[in-house]
Amino acid sequence: MTNTNDRPQQAPANKSFEPDDQQPVRILGIETSCDETAAAVIADGRVILSNLVASQADLHAQYGGIFPEVASRQHILTIYPIIEQALHEAHLTINELDAIAVTRGPGLPGSLTVGVNAAKGLSLGSGLPLIGINHLEAHLYSAWLFPEDQGPDDPSPQFPLLALIVSGGHTELVLMTGHLEYQRLGGTLDDAAGEAFDKVARLLDLPYPGGPNIQNAAKAGNPQAFDFPRAWLEGTWNFSFSGLKTAVLREVRRIQTGGTPLPVPNLAASFQAAVVDVLVGKTITAAKELEVEDILVAGGVSANISLRQTLEQRTNNKLHVPPIALCTDNAAMVAGAGFFRYTHGLRDPLDIDVLPNWPISEL
Ligand code: KG4
Ligand code: ZN
Repeated sequence: MTNTNDRPQQAPANKSFEPDDQQPVRILGIETSCDETAAAVIADGRVILSNLVASQADLHAQYGGIFPEVASRQHILTIYPIIEQALHEAHLTINELDAIAVTRGPGLPGSLTVGVNAAKGLSLGSGLPLIGINHLEAHLYSAWLFPEDQGPDDPSPQFPLLALIVSGGHTELVLMTGHLEYQRLGGTLDDAAGEAFDKVARLLDLPYPGGPNIQNAAKAGNPQAFDFPRAWLEGTWNFSFSGLKTAVLREVRRIQTGGTPLPVPNLAASFQAAVVDVLVGKTITAAKELEVEDILVAGGVSANISLRQTLEQRTNNKLHVPPIALCTDNAAMVAGAGFFRYTHGLRDPLDIDVLPNWPISEL
C-alpha cells in the first residue's frame, strides 16, 4: 500500500467539481484539532445552516491547560452525537450533502485522529468526497461566514489581503493573494499570542482558558500601570512573546516577595496592552508596506475586545474580523474552507494521515 499523505489533492474522474447553479453546495465540517469537538453544515462556503461546538474547557481547567489524552477520549465520546445534531439542525441527511471536510492539522495528534477517522468512516459509508483542511486556513475562512437568517454584515474580503492568525498555537502574518493562495510573511519565534495569554493567566492565578479571563480582569485595570516590553523585531514580520511573559513573571515575583497582594487587574491590563500593541502595530505596518487594502484577523485571540477596538481605531483599512463566536475553534470555518477546496476540484483519498505540524506555507 502506498503512502499518499504528501500527494496533492485530486479531483475524482467520476464526479464533476463545478457547483450546480441551482443547488447550494452543502458541506459538513468536522473539527477536533484541540479541545473543542465541533460539527457544522455550511452552504456555498458562507451560509451557516448549523454550527455546534462542544467545549472541553471545564474538563481541562483542573489541569490548568489541555491534557491531550483526556482531549482525545472526550472527542471519541462526543464526535458522532455532535455530527448527528449538526445534520439535524441543518434539516439535512448525509445523502443531501456534497462533501465532508475535516481538520487534518496542525493540532494534537490524538485529537486530530478522532475527527479524521470519523470523517473517513462517513465518507466511506456515504460515498461523499473527503477533504482534509488545514486548521489555520480554516480560521481564515471564518471571515466569510454568516448565519442563515442574516445577510453578511460586511462585503466579503477582497484580495490581496493581509491576514493575522492569532490562536493558542499560532501567531502568523499571511498574505492571501486569492482563494487558497497563501504567502507566509512571518510568525512567532516562541510563544503564540494565545499561549502567552494562557501562561500569564496562570501566573495571575486566573483559570484556563487564559484569554477571556485576562480580558475580564483587565476591564478594571490600568493598561499603563506597568511598562511591559514590546518585541518589535524590526525588519521582520515575526513576533516574540516569551520576553513579555518573563517580564510579567519577574514583576509578579517582585510583588509577592514584597508581601503585597497582586494587582491582578493592572497586571492583566498592562500585559494585554503590550500584546495588542505589537499585534496591531505590525499588522498595520505590513498592510501599508505591502499596499494591501483589506486586513483579516482570525483565531481565538481575535475574540479579544481590546484587539478588535484598537485595530478599528488605528487603521482606515477595510477590516474583516469574524463574529466573536466564530473566532475560537469551530467546524463552520472548516466547512467554509472545504467549500473553496471542493469548488477548486480538490479531494483527498481515504488513507490520509493527520498532520500535527502542518504549516500554512505548505498549502
Ligand atoms: O483558535 P483557538 O480557539 O484554538 C487554537 O487554534 O489554538 O484559540 C484559543 C486561544 C487560547 O489561547 C485562548 O486563551 C485565546 O485563544 N482566546 C483569547 C480570547 N478568547 C480566546 N485571547 C484573548 N482574548 C480573548 N477574548
Ligand atoms: Zn484554532
